[in-house]
Amino acid sequence: MDMASYAKRREAFADSMGEGVAIIPAAPQATRSNDVEYRYRQDNDLLYLTGFPEPNCLCVLSPQHERERFILFVQPRDREKETWTGKRYGVDGAREVFGADAAYTIDQVREVLPEHLARTDTVCFAPGRDERMTALIGELIDNSRSGRARTGRGVVSLVDPAAILHEMRLFKSAGELDLMRRAVAASAGAHVAAMRGVRDGAFEYELEALLEYHFRAAGGSGWAYPSIVASGANATILHYTQNDRRMRDGDLVLIDAGAEFDGYCSDVTRTFPVGAAYTPPQRRIYEIVLRAQKEGIAAVHPGASMEEVHKRATEVLVDGLLEVGLLEGEAGELMEKGEHTRFYMHRTGHWLGLDVHDVGRYRVDGVSRPLEPGMVLTVEPGLYIAEDLEQVSDDYRGIGVRIEDDVLVTEGGHEVLSAAIPKEADEIEAIRREALANPLPAAG
Ligand code: GLY
Ligand code: MN
Ligand code: MN
Repeated sequence: MDMASYAKRREAFADSMGEGVAIIPAAPQATRSNDVEYRYRQDNDLLYLTGFPEPNCLCVLSPQHERERFILFVQPRDREKETWTGKRYGVDGAREVFGADAAYTIDQVREVLPEHLARTDTVCFAPGRDERMTALIGELIDNSRSGRARTGRGVVSLVDPAAILHEMRLFKSAGELDLMRRAVAASAGAHVAAMRGVRDGAFEYELEALLEYHFRAAGGSGWAYPSIVASGANATILHYTQNDRRMRDGDLVLIDAGAEFDGYCSDVTRTFPVGAAYTPPQRRIYEIVLRAQKEGIAAVHPGASMEEVHKRATEVLVDGLLEVGLLEGEAGELMEKGEHTRFYMHRTGHWLGLDVHDVGRYRVDGVSRPLEPGMVLTVEPGLYIAEDLEQVSDDYRGIGVRIEDDVLVTEGGHEVLSAAIPKEADEIEAIRREALANPLPAAG
């Protein structure tokens, strides 16, 4: 993303905020265990407004200030620390590379921020995950408030920046869509490799490793969320991530895995046979989910709503469940009573962007909001027939199927960003047959 795009976002944010000062803290560095940390991942709001990748940073937007409208507080350059953990931009980099009007070291917040807080009535700030920073900012806001009686100025209202920022993030620019397409392309390579690479006797984690090899090899930063490789009845566990079962011919494997590219997520699910073909009951369930997914996608266009997409996909699932005898009764009544939730217990989609479950409101004024061009959502119906589910034919027990694509709302309707990843049962079986006839070396 070029620096001009970030500047435009800050301007748009400031225009919406009007009078006020916005304070956006970095994500804290998270400890995994003892002295081992997770790879650092910047807070998405800060990333969206600045592109600044380092921890221990605070972004302040003070649009009414005559000189310091965009301020970054950052880690100081430190030769010794940089030897251990890598280069830092420092205050010079914050100005020169990221275009800050002013940059200070993070330990100067207490010194510099009060001047900005003393000149405003409104602060845009949401308590974050960094408890120390939240406490410090809270204290400085408090000081500004208590000075108000004497000076006539000081913070009286605290506004959540999400109200503006998350609405902006919901609509993807051409530059953002470029990155999302690259994330999806990395996922496409990974899913096709897994479809080709699965073998009777292999462990789920072997596919996990293969997927993540492809995410990184395509230039992605890794996964957007922990990969789900769920074979057999594990596919009926929605967030299964153990990935340690040995797969067998006759199983299905459900893979819900997506790459992240430059902060942007993809989120894709495919369900395919470990052997050469779906068994007849697996295929029946698969075709129902596929039909529901296609109908759900067909319902995506400007003016429609997420609720309508969910309703359409659910209707098709319920019709299918009636056809195969997993439900009995009248479709409308069954849906009304929620009988289908024994087999379909989640929503059909969510926003997608910098967060996998991206920000932005789903409902406005009490109703599911109309879809608009530039929004990206997933469409991901599924059916999950737990092994121990009562009143279910043995044929179907332990079958879990989900199919998930990433869909951009366009002026004319929609574009399926992940369309290149096969999902027709015949197409997948052809890939499986071809792969079994011409096995690749394990790491391919
Ligand atoms: N992978 C998480 C989801 O599909 O929502
Ligand atoms: Mn998913
Ligand atoms: Mn999803």
